[in-house]
Amino acid sequence: FSCRKSTMWKYKEFMPVDPSGIISLDEGGTPFCKCDKLGEQLGIELYVKVEGSNPTGSFKDRGMSVGITKAMELGVDTVGCASTGNTSASLAAYAARAGLKCVVLLPAGKVALGKLAQAMFHGAQVLSVRGNFDQALEAITSLALQGHLYLLNSINPYRLEGQKSIGFEIVDDLGWKSPDRIILPVGNAGNISAIWKGITEFHRAGFIDDLPRMTGIQAEGAAPIAHAIWDGQKDIVPVENPETVATAIRIGAPVSSKKAIRAIYESDGLAETVSDEEILSAQKLLARTEGIGVEPASAASIAGLIKLVNTGKIDKGEQVVCVVTGHVLKDPNIAIDACEEPIEIDPDINSLLKVIKGN
Ligand code: F0G
Repeated sequence: FSCRKSTMWKYKEFMPVDPSGIISLDEGGTPFCKCDKLGEQLGIELYVKVEGSNPTGSFKDRGMSVGITKAMELGVDTVGCASTGNTSASLAAYAARAGLKCVVLLPAGKVALGKLAQAMFHGAQVLSVRGNFDQALEAITSLALQGHLYLLNSINPYRLEGQKSIGFEIVDDLGWKSPDRIILPVGNAGNISAIWKGITEFHRAGFIDDLPRMTGIQAEGAAPIAHAIWDGQKDIVPVENPETVATAIRIGAPVSSKKAIRAIYESDGLAETVSDEEILSAQKLLARTEGIGVEPASAASIAGLIKLVNTGKIDKGEQVVCVVTGHVLKDPNIAIDACEEPIEIDPDINSLLKVIKGN
């Protein structure tokens, strides 16, 4: 693969679509940053896979590229999704590129500003639903089942086929080997299932010898999968009113929960929960220690890593890859609220000196 352009289509033989009709914005091929400072603090070897560097600022673009390519193959004219924000931003962009009509359902008042702006600006019909994500997904699924649109939530298997390329890239980035562990935030549970699928496909193809432990992190107020794992169950008990500052993963009834739980058991992995406070503090830590700006949901993977190291569930010296799923600019309000206001000054050297020297 090494002489090919660094996008997810580098691995096109593993994608179940006709390669002559690919709808792409050059998604994938995202940065794989070694984080020595944070790694040293935690006593591990840490890499961060920066999915915020995708065309619309989240990992969803990988799934959408395959999903929209398939939609074109099938000849549909309208696509749709329910979303906590990123899926809608991505779908709106890829639908625009393909010339398809796009409808997105968003939980009213619970979508971060950057994501809402993207969905609207790319020309989707944006509907604000009086209800949460789970209810919006149920509504649009019924519409899709009646044949009114092609559903591009991660219940659509082609979405996962695209997102499995994160797994491909991680082992490629590491020189064709598996890390000890992959940690990522879990919301609707598509991504952890997809990455595990990618990793096991490369393992079966003989590209890698080992497998990583899949480690899913959920917000305390929206953690049905973590609870199922802790209780040794194969499926979840839905959370009625999920709540977390990380609106991207504010989900009580993940559609891919069974696949995600299987991935965690099969890989001898872990599930953990983190509080909103831990999420926000990890978000700032990553931004200020390593220069990587991510949205709150993405910081759940770092918060989970810290908690698992501190409780001794991750061994010292482990090689860990944290997938950070979305860009800090997705949720500008959270970033601004976490900081002091800029100081307003007059444009002269004395005022400047007074402020930066503190006298
Ligand atoms: N991180 C971010 C930034 C997300 O937007 C999502 C999901 C996740 C993590 C969780 O991934 O659902 O595959 O377990 N966002 C969806 C959306 C639900 O509508 O944008 P998952």
